[in-house]
Amino acid sequence: MPQIREILDTMDYGPSPEAADVVTDWLAAHGRSFGHFIGGDFTRPAETGTFAVHDPATGAVLAQVAEGSAADVDAAVAAAKAAFADWSATPGHVRARYLYALARLVQKRERFLSVLETLDNGKPIRESRDIDVPLVARHFYHHAGWAELVATEFPGQRPLGVCGQIIPWNFPLLMLGWKIAPALAAGNTVVLKPAEFTPLTALAFAEICREAGLPKGVVNIVCGDGATGAALVRHPDVAKIAFTGSTEVGRAIRESTAGSGKKLSLELGGKSPFVVFEDADLDGAVEGVVDAIWFNAGQVCCAGARILVQEGVAERFYAKLKRRMATLRTGNPLDKSTDVGAIVAPVQLQRIRDLVRKGVAEGASLFQAGGDLPAEGCFFPPTLFTEVAPASTIAEVEIFGPVAVATTFRTPDEAVALANNTRYGLAASIWSENINVALDAAARIKAGVVWINATNLFDAGAGFGGYKESGFGREGGREGLAEYLAPVRIGTATPTAETASPTLSAVPAHAGVRPETGMAEGLPGIDRTAKLYIGGKQARPDGGYSFAVQGPDGAPLGLAGLGNRKDIRNAVEAAGKAAAWGATTAHNRAQVLYYVAENLSARAAEFGRRLSATTGAAPPEAAREVEAAVARIFFYAAWADKYDGRIHATRSRHVTLAMHEPFGVMGLVCPDEAPLLALVSLLMPAIAMGNRAVVVPSPVHPLAATDLYQVLDTSDVPPGVVNIVTGDRDTLSKTLAEHHDVAALWYRGSRAGGAAVEKASASNLKTTWIDDGQSQDWFDPALAQGRAFLDRATQIKTVWVPYGE
Ligand code: NAI
Repeated sequence: MPQIREILDTMDYGPSPEAADVVTDWLAAHGRSFGHFIGGDFTRPAETGTFAVHDPATGAVLAQVAEGSAADVDAAVAAAKAAFADWSATPGHVRARYLYALARLVQKRERFLSVLETLDNGKPIRESRDIDVPLVARHFYHHAGWAELVATEFPGQRPLGVCGQIIPWNFPLLMLGWKIAPALAAGNTVVLKPAEFTPLTALAFAEICREAGLPKGVVNIVCGDGATGAALVRHPDVAKIAFTGSTEVGRAIRESTAGSGKKLSLELGGKSPFVVFEDADLDGAVEGVVDAIWFNAGQVCCAGARILVQEGVAERFYAKLKRRMATLRTGNPLDKSTDVGAIVAPVQLQRIRDLVRKGVAEGASLFQAGGDLPAEGCFFPPTLFTEVAPASTIAEVEIFGPVAVATTFRTPDEAVALANNTRYGLAASIWSENINVALDAAARIKAGVVWINATNLFDAGAGFGGYKESGFGREGGREGLAEYLAPVRIGTATPTAETASPTLSAVPAHAGVRPETGMAEGLPGIDRTAKLYIGGKQARPDGGYSFAVQGPDGAPLGLAGLGNRKDIRNAVEAAGKAAAWGATTAHNRAQVLYYVAENLSARAAEFGRRLSATTGAAPPEAAREVEAAVARIFFYAAWADKYDGRIHATRSRHVTLAMHEPFGVMGLVCPDEAPLLALVSLLMPAIAMGNRAVVVPSPVHPLAATDLYQVLDTSDVPPGVVNIVTGDRDTLSKTLAEHHDVAALWYRGSRAGGAAVEKASASNLKTTWIDDGQSQDWFDPALAQGRAFLDRATQIKTVWVPYGE
């Protein structure tokens, strides 16, 4: 036994283990065996088959848990469906009381839940006790508030129904809170599937639901692996899937739900940059790295895994970091002085080892914190790679372990370029004492969450979620709640065609067809093929073919270019080059939109005649469409500089910004109804928010769109902001859906076409918005314009700016 004096000399930590008896007693009381929680009762595990749940720190079996079959999923969905009618009709205040009770009970059981989480997952007790469980309670409190407010704050919105929720193992109870709290607040019922490595806190939460007296069936928990998750995803009575996990499974879920009408939010992987500028507080940044990549042993989707450090300070920074690494303690997660706990399972440990071996083989320089690792269990030491080539595997792949990779940069521009050189876009951490430098980088880095001089800050009041292949949708805050609501459909809607659009007959572009007469009175028309419009110029279709456009009586009206894959690529490239549009002031964008409206209005008679000729609408009806289009452009010109972001109320001394950012390049695929008005209704919100667009007009009535070039040309719309490619709708939209530089895609066409778009979008997980097989009344402002369009034309970037010393 060391003397106190010796301890004071060495300042060594003694062991400080948290007692686990509260959990071992609980496990023993359950006979270390758990069923699913369905309709308010636990099923009997023996009937369904079980799997073992291990403590990753020791390898010991903690419990046997039921393996969910398709029948179990069926039963749980049926229970949730049966509970939905009452729960969704329960007054918000009453739902609030239930959520409040859940929050209170989580808080009362903080110690029990923390120990259970640590045993099940391997994370240090300091984290489960000080971060995970308090955030879970905060989430339920916050959403108790939303239950109270949802009816007045989200007028015209309704809950969705049964929500299927699939969560990972890295924050088991926290992810449960992130999923269940907003779903219940909005009036939905849920079936949640915890990860197979870590189901225990979810089962403890099921008991809390019982204790809170939550009506049966409102929360159901089915345990199991990917097959159980897949059965939930496929279930026809599930209205929404909320998933957190790997990008590969996210992609599979996107494909599986394509065309089903299920709402989807995906929170996937990342390889988030941690950018250290030369004027950063380097000691602060070193602590930042500790929280960024050694928090939860780096098994964090938003871990700051890629350190980018400015050349002039790199050596100093690495030296400080290595000194700090030497003080990190890896070991028994239940010990209160442990910094880095266990890796969740042997398979994950092996994955980390393989990737680290690969890093060494690729020539990066390896440094690992010394110190003994426990002889048993899944442990991996804090690891730093320097001199990492940006294109190497370890720089690109999510390692999901305590492994940071570091690269240097010279200029802020280079830092931003390296930060964005990833298919992911979940988070970023930026370190600089210069607020200009930091905010500039925050604005330019494509990530859903940016922390300035901080990292891994979370709060129930702020949105969390990714850009690009990190997924879509937000969790937390107002924006997170919106994921669990849908508009109450008002007005009439008619089902759209089940089939794809008609086949267009290709004719060589030089085969003249006389355009409709009457454009110039008394004179024969001049042969004209409407070209594509790319980069501000009329362009011949790449394939050299056109298609015949017919009037309502079948008479030929003219030719339009038959665009192909290459034309879409050219249009996307042109749109990509017009990035300055997103950076111009909102006022300037509004001015351009007003100018478009003015010029369209000046040519209203001509457009009216064109619409009459193409759709057969009576002249007053056609004039009404043009007038409505002008009004719609005015509407979005008005919005261009008023669609404000928010400052969320999160922690004290933190400004937490929720900024609306444009996606970048959007694809807009138009319906056949109201060919001018519908096009304008899709295009204007997109460009008002700073996006550039590739528009595919109605293949049946493309000429109103092609006439629009001349209006755009004369209205100061910069080249490339609007590109128009005519041709077969579903062929072109598939190319748009697959294109990696198209960040969002709206599709209005057939049901089958919408399903194909959703499926193809899985390749880069772009945000899609398809109609639900119902054509809408484009004249009705309640349906065809408004915030729903602006929401869909933007993504929220949450920027955390702490202040004060
Ligand atoms: P995973 O994505 O397979 O597991 C996450 C959840 O999805 C689990 O509940 C699992 O049972 C379920 N699941 C698996 N296949 C499914 C399917 N086809 N349909 C529906 N649900 C399904 O992740 P896994 O295999 O545990 O970890 C592999 C890698 O994924 C990690 O190394 C890490 O890189 C990444 N990951 C990312 C997470 C994040 O928070 N973004 C969380 C967990 C893993």
